[in-house]
Amino acid sequence: MQDKLQTLQDKLAQAAQGGGEKRIEKQHAKGKLTARERIHFFLDPGSFEEMGALVTHRCNDFGMEKQKIYGDGVVTGYGTVEGRLVYVFAQDFTVFGGSLSETHAEKICKLMDMAIKNGAPLVGLNDSGGARIQEGVQSLGGYADIFYRNTLASGVIPQISAIMGPCAGGAVYSPALTDFIYMVEQSSYMFITGPNVVKTVTNEEVSAEELGGAMTHAVKSGVTHFTAQNDMDCLLQIKKLLSYLPQNCEEEAAMLPYEAGQEERPALNTIVPENPNHPYDMRALIEELVDADSFYEVNKEYAENIVVGFARLGGRSIGVVANNPMVLAGCLDVDCSKKGARFVRTCDAFNIPLLVLEDVPGFLPGTDQEWNGIISNGAKLLYAFCEATVPRITVITRKAYGGAYDVMNSKHIGADLNFAWPSAEIAVMGAKGASEIIFRREIMEADDSAAKLAEKEAEYAEKFANPYRAAALWGSLFARPCVFFAALKNLVWPAATPPHR
Ligand code: HXC
Repeated sequence: MQDKLQTLQDKLAQAAQGGGEKRIEKQHAKGKLTARERIHFFLDPGSFEEMGALVTHRCNDFGMEKQKIYGDGVVTGYGTVEGRLVYVFAQDFTVFGGSLSETHAEKICKLMDMAIKNGAPLVGLNDSGGARIQEGVQSLGGYADIFYRNTLASGVIPQISAIMGPCAGGAVYSPALTDFIYMVEQSSYMFITGPNVVKTVTNEEVSAEELGGAMTHAVKSGVTHFTAQNDMDCLLQIKKLLSYLPQNCEEEAAMLPYEAGQEERPALNTIVPENPNHPYDMRALIEELVDADSFYEVNKEYAENIVVGFARLGGRSIGVVANNPMVLAGCLDVDCSKKGARFVRTCDAFNIPLLVLEDVPGFLPGTDQEWNGIISNGAKLLYAFCEATVPRITVITRKAYGGAYDVMNSKHIGADLNFAWPSAEIAVMGAKGASEIIFRREIMEADDSAAKLAEKEAEYAEKFANPYRAAALWGSLFARPCVFFAALKNLVWPAATPPHR
């Protein structure tokens, strides 16, 4: 038995070496951790149970039969994060560049099947040169097997992807099918085809970083939801994200202990400026409203006219969706509609109540918007709110104009409670635009058109630039901003209707 135990130990020790010392040194020299180091840093100490450590590939072409490395380029298994079960895989760039073979894919698929069956989150740490070139169609099939499972798992268990190295071709589509993507700055990139192919096909000269680096996908494409300064920062952020999410679609996120502190927030009375044309920082308002330091913004650098993210209210995990008057005056456009819709659907899938902070002058006009499909993309946000069955609360902090009034979680599309602050203005459009249309003849015929317009504008504003007409019609709830936190915290939140998946 002693000999047999020794053999097993030797094999496992060999597996732990991955692609060998030299390649590990190369990985470290790039500022990257190895696959195993990442998993051990991520999971609770001693909790990792590895599966398939001794798997090898089955390829016998191009001399591959002489290069069988235990684990075949991916470390898979399960463990706990803050005591919660999590399934995790980490691609090992030191073994064939972390490329995906048939057996590498099988290991990931087995893990995904277990995560779905047991209802626990799946975290993928990606660091891969894409399809294993020596294998051909087997590796392509392996990718498709993963994509299929990503789709089956979508909305059932949280799926989180970290991009911690180069990810090209097939290696980007699995992350794109998951709920959240993290990218590590300067050491990761994602693209369908790399700079060389781009040069050949379109004659564009572009660096890998510019084409698909972390900041490109954070700011321009919105593909990545979060960026991290390095591997450790990335793994710590994933742990933080998990704390806002439940284990699966049938559960609720854990409440964190909350100690009552400053329940009145006087600063909330002063954030919204008196002049309705002055912008203000919606993020500052969110920070002031929710539990201290609990706001974790998603897609922070992309389509900043809408701000979305997780937060806590009295210890409860919530999703915040807020218009941001600092960017495009908070207008809804194509990009922010897509961003908002995706976030709302994710919260809905995982029983996370929604708090909507509304200050929106309307949809952004223009050919650019129309030609890029603001109609169907704006409809995505509308649809996402309409179908959400989680508790939904809206507070109109200032403007609620036009179609955007309807879209931003209005009463009429199923919001549970709609509050207005005294600064709210609820109308079809702003007083000036409205007066120019409905009083056009009167204004044109007046001796002093400008004075007439001003008079009509004031008349319209008096009637509509306040929340009281809506209150008279539908009995909106009112809140003084300074006590709004307490009002929300003490609410009897409506029960979530059972998950609809
Ligand atoms: C097999 C691979 C590999 C791959 C890298 N390696 N990519 N082996 N299949 N796809 C191996 C290298 O041969 C090398 O082995 C080791 O991994 C490290 O690679 P390097 O090139 O030395 O590293 P680096 O300079 O950091 O460059 C990393 C890289 C580059 C940018 C990822 O290796 C690269 O461009 N690889 C090919 C990417 C690609 O075109 N993949 C196919 C995408 S198509 P040694 O033994 O020297 O250490 C695809 C189709 C699926 O994925 C589509 C589904 C929708």
